[in-house]
Amino acid sequence: MRVVSLRVDALRCLSNVELSPAAGLNVFLGTNGAGKTSLLEALYLLGYGRSFRTHDHDAVIARGKSRLTVFAEIERFGALERVGLERGKSSWRALSNGEVLAELGELVRRMPVLAFAPESHSLVSGPSEGRRRFFDWLMFHVEPGFSATARRYARCLRQRNAALKLDGGDFDVWTEQLVIAGEELNELRCRHFPNFAAHTATALSRFLPEMGDIQLSFARGWRDDTTLAVRLAELGDRERDVGHTLAGPHRANWQILARTGELKDVGSRGQQKLVALAVVTAAAEIFREQTGHPPVILLDDVTSELDGEHQQRVLAHCASLGAQLWVTGTDRSPALDAWQGDVAWFHVEHGAVRRATA
Ligand SMILES: Nc1ncnc2c1ncn2[C@@H]1O[C@H](COP(=O)(O)OP(=O)(O)O)[C@@H](O)[C@H]1O
Ligand SMILES: [Mg+2]
Repeated sequence: MRVVSLRVDALRCLSNVELSPAAGLNVFLGTNGAGKTSLLEALYLLGYGRSFRTHDHDAVIARGKSRLTVFAEIERFGALERVGLERGKSSWRALSNGEVLAELGELVRRMPVLAFAPESHSLVSGPSEGRRRFFDWLMFHVEPGFSATARRYARCLRQRNAALKLDGGDFDVWTEQLVIAGEELNELRCRHFPNFAAHTATALSRFLPEMGDIQLSFARGWRDDTTLAVRLAELGDRERDVGHTLAGPHRANWQILARTGELKDVGSRGQQKLVALAVVTAAAEIFREQTGHPPVILLDDVTSELDGEHQQRVLAHCASLGAQLWVTGTDRSPALDAWQGDVAWFHVEHGAVRRATA
């Protein structure tokens, strides 16, 4: 998939921005606060329905405006489609070719986007939720049954938790369905995790060869030696005390293990960033392998986040996937200059974007 044109309005400092990106590399240069990251945020919003910088939806809407809009024309297997998202303070509307979509997920499905940003090290060192979400992004896009099962599980979990909070609430009526959906969800994740681990290990040897042997492990969210039904029965009263479900795939996690320990403990911030980069490129590779087309890849502040050697490696890798790249930085760099394919340079200033000559 690639973006053929993009229109953004009232997103942070961006107002009435329109641009036509190159199929290959797009570089956005400008000073701090110019609006470069906001531009990537616009694409990310289409791909996830939320920002990668904040959980606060309102913070993304330009001050003094009531709603932001992002429209893109995208191309996949030669077919063009217009997609869009309008977001107000407490409402959203997703569109495809002028038709309103019933669910945000339908927009997300059309917009496979992967991002590497300064905060991406938290994929390694942050809470498990970020890792779970990241892996589930891949599951959502490559496993047809995942979305329905995940939704069924989430519904049971909500109901069961509500009953657990209620004095005398009958949470057990939800346990059976929760267990069925939960075991199914786990089975789907287990089916795909080895491939994710293998691709990540290969990507790690490309970006961080000095780390030596690195392994990924998956924790399903409850003890390995028992079924979810038995585990929930064991937990019984403790769940009532805390008021929520203590075992199940909503607590799944994966971790990256180096020889000396878990990477979130033993890796430097710089190493954690490179690991995050490897994880992102691995996901892009799997996405492409399973769907036949590459996702759009966003690399924020790449010239300050990565040294020249790593910039070169990640650009080469993205080029080999045939992915459209959106890269921001304050200055150009030799690795960006050396790009061989289709390229477009843009200058960003005070929320305005203009095409620059190379
Ligand atoms: N809700 C908002 N409304 C208007 N401007 C905003 C809003 N949120 C952030 N900004 C401004 O938009 C700019 C965003 O910059 P950003 O995209 O992070 O720039 P860059 O990545 O080029 O450093 C900053 O100058 C910031 O003050
Ligand atoms: Mg920025």
